[in-house]
Amino acid sequence: MSFIKVDQLCKTFKVATHKRGFVGAIRNLASRQHSLVKAVQDISFQIKRGELVGYLGPNGAGKSTTIKMLTGILVPSSGQITVGNIIPWEQRNQHTRRIGVVFGQRTNLWWDLPVIESFDLLKYIYNVPEDRFKQNLKKFEDLLELGEFSNTPVRSLSLGQRMRADLAAALLHDPEVVFLDEPTIGLDVVAKDRIRTFIKEINQNAGVTFILTTHDLGDVQKLCRRVMMIDHGKLLFDGPLQELQDRFGQERELEVDFADDYEDVSIPGAKIIQQQGRQTTYRFSREQMSASKLIQSLAEKFQIIDLTVREPDVENTIRHIYEKKLLSHQND
Ligand SMILES: Nc1ncnc2c1ncn2[C@@H]1O[C@H](COP(=O)(O)OP(=O)(O)OP(=O)(O)O)[C@@H](O)[C@H]1O
Ligand SMILES: [Mg+2]
Repeated sequence: MSFIKVDQLCKTFKVATHKRGFVGAIRNLASRQHSLVKAVQDISFQIKRGELVGYLGPNGAGKSTTIKMLTGILVPSSGQITVGNIIPWEQRNQHTRRIGVVFGQRTNLWWDLPVIESFDLLKYIYNVPEDRFKQNLKKFEDLLELGEFSNTPVRSLSLGQRMRADLAAALLHDPEVVFLDEPTIGLDVVAKDRIRTFIKEINQNAGVTFILTTHDLGDVQKLCRRVMMIDHGKLLFDGPLQELQDRFGQERELEVDFADDYEDVSIPGAKIIQQQGRQTTYRFSREQMSASKLIQSLAEKFQIIDLTVREPDVENTIRHIYEKKLLSHQND
């Protein structure tokens, strides 16, 4: 049973176009011209309860716009969304009680209030029972180490502290689904790790559904089994991260230790990228040659002591997809 259903979702923004220069400025006053930005185009997907899905795509792809429609902040131009049978923008109050939201770029907390007072306000707004509130607070304080700054006003927090406070705030009322828009942006490695561990824990132990947008592939690797990728508002891929790797991970590496000093160890179809003593590293593309073929060709000519095949890392794969626009023509 799907918990979140998105069907042929579209969002088009109308933006005023401005003419430049003096004459242009006069014309702008007289008549406004508009152009249309298709931020989200015909996106459909379904998410089950308890899933943790990564929503990826280059800058301007339409990720935040999708999240805003899912949270009920924006109304779609066309298409449908239901989150557990609720239409987000139509039943906003009901929806808000069931979801948690973190926008990494800005805080949901009260700027001048100490963290703990923000939490108290949220308890009041969401009507969280006292014992439940205490239980949650204790859990989040432990997992996110909030204690050291819980009396500090939000405006004085460091970025990493603020993000931890925002995450806790988003979860205090036991939401069923949490939308995270770049929750690790600008954080150091330790802070990122703490936040990832926290998300994983809440997803696995409390069964909370998460949708996560990020440009940090560490987040994806650590957290998401399923990824959706969009570009120019269109959904281009939806499946396991491993499948994305298998389909689009291009360049693999083979590291070989030879038994002897060979004059020329080059092999057609594989590029030598490093040579150190008797150790040589080749780079080869999945499309051109299989690993076993390459190893076979080498073994026919040389004596090999040891070898390791390295799969392309996720970062390279995704860069390759963005740069080459590999996926975009498939759906056009
Ligand atoms: N309120 C708005 N009015 C006009 N255009 C908008 C508005 N909000 C977003 N857009 C446009 O819609 C497109 C998608 O923007 P969106 O913020 O969803 O991208 P994103 O995938 O979140 O990108 P990023 O990774 O940079 O955060 C962009 O071209 C953006 O300029
Ligand atoms: Mg965004």
